Amino acid sequence: MYQLAKPLLFSLDPERAHALSLRLLRQGGSNPLGRWAIRTLFGAPRVAPAEVMGLTFPNRVGLAAGYDKDGLAWRGLAALGFGHVEIGTVTPLPQPGNERPRVFRLAEDTAVINRLGFPSRGADFVAAQLAAARGHGALIGANLGKNKATPNAEAARDYVLGVERFAALADYLAVNVSSPNTPGLRELQTRAYLDDLLRDVLRARDAQTEALGRRVPVALKLAPDLDDDALHDALGAAMDAGVDGIIATNTTIRRDGLRSAHASETGGLSGRPLTAQAQAMLTRIARETGGGTPLIAVGGIMDETDARARLDAGAALVQVYTGLVYGGPGLVRRLVRATAG
Ligand code: FNR
Repeated sequence: MYQLAKPLLFSLDPERAHALSLRLLRQGGSNPLGRWAIRTLFGAPRVAPAEVMGLTFPNRVGLAAGYDKDGLAWRGLAALGFGHVEIGTVTPLPQPGNERPRVFRLAEDTAVINRLGFPSRGADFVAAQLAAARGHGALIGANLGKNKATPNAEAARDYVLGVERFAALADYLAVNVSSPNTPGLRELQTRAYLDDLLRDVLRARDAQTEALGRRVPVALKLAPDLDDDALHDALGAAMDAGVDGIIATNTTIRRDGLRSAHASETGGLSGRPLTAQAQAMLTRIARETGGGTPLIAVGGIMDETDARARLDAGAALVQVYTGLVYGGPGLVRRLVRATAG
């Protein structure tokens, strides 16, 4: 069915196609009949749950951050069969992101380039969307970022605000220091920033633990472009601070072997050209962390083979975004089956 809708969606500007799909999922998810229809058409089978970061995930397949930045469609996304949905990136204050056009389909490469730059309706708006989100099947992650106007020296404060706002509303939190589209953001992956940032974030999380009666796990999302030394440093900071999980990876700024007309657009590249790079990064991370830290694999997971390869490399969960653009919502069901057991 998606193969019928795809030419229509691909005839639209990518950002408009995205907004349309999000609106359909929001509306479909807003009432029992719509949810039943989504589940009947696309829903994933019930499989054995997975214990990861102290949480019970209904399956191993999640939606990566960036699709539902403002928490508009979590009900519909849960009905599609995702075991977890990562909302965000959310910034403390609303901000518009970069100028359009800022999302490009690279159809010949089965890829996307985006330079959205964290358009966000801000923490208050997103928190209101998520007020009733927990406990409806899919676990909810809140992916936290900083406002563009916040200098790196003060970035920790933005992330702490995110923790304080979303600890009660999300099942887990993700610290995003790896998007290429906010100037200087990826510098936060260096120890000069990351040690202090993670210490502050985890301290803020710990302060919430007693009040909430549960410990909200915090995962760190890394870029695929870190060289060995930079990765070693980032993982050192993560493990010293005691983060609960690593999400690998975000989009890449590399441009190897692309054929599409939009290949030279600035931004982060995702989809098929990222598969091997993200898989290799996961393998390096698994080796360095020695199995002690739960790993969430993302980046170029386009089919069942890709998803299984990530589990084989040590991932406990997988996430998709660009795979959905090219494979459609039926991909969720296929991946849930392929990663079960
Ligand atoms: C993203 N991604 C992303 N990641 C993140 O942590 N915060 C964000 O706001 C966004 N926004 C975003 C927008 C768009 C249009 C895309 C395509 C991607 C990155 C995403 O979560 C994922 O890490 C990468 O896209 C790699 O996975 P896929 O897309 O190859 O499955």
